[in-house]
Amino acid sequence: MIVCVCKSVSDRKIRAAIAEGADTFDELQFELGVATCCGKCEESVRDVMAQSGACQSQCGVEHHVHAMPVTFYERKAA
Ligand code: FES
Repeated sequence: MIVCVCKSVSDRKIRAAIAEGADTFDELQFELGVATCCGKCEESVRDVMAQSGACQSQCGVEHHVHAMPVTFYERKAA
């Protein structure tokens, strides 16, 4: 299945890169170019990483919840 449409990267390619030692999101971006164009595939790439145990090898956490709410605050001029 194609995960990154912009760079035509499949989940198999991502898993292969992880098996060859790419175990951070930045490395996958560098090696495969995922999430370097429109960025819409980032969450899917991270899901493949989590399924492949890449997160586990980095921090020991088996299942991350990536749907954390992020709050942006607007700075107002004085
Ligand atoms: S779908 Fe991956 S960068 Fe656009």
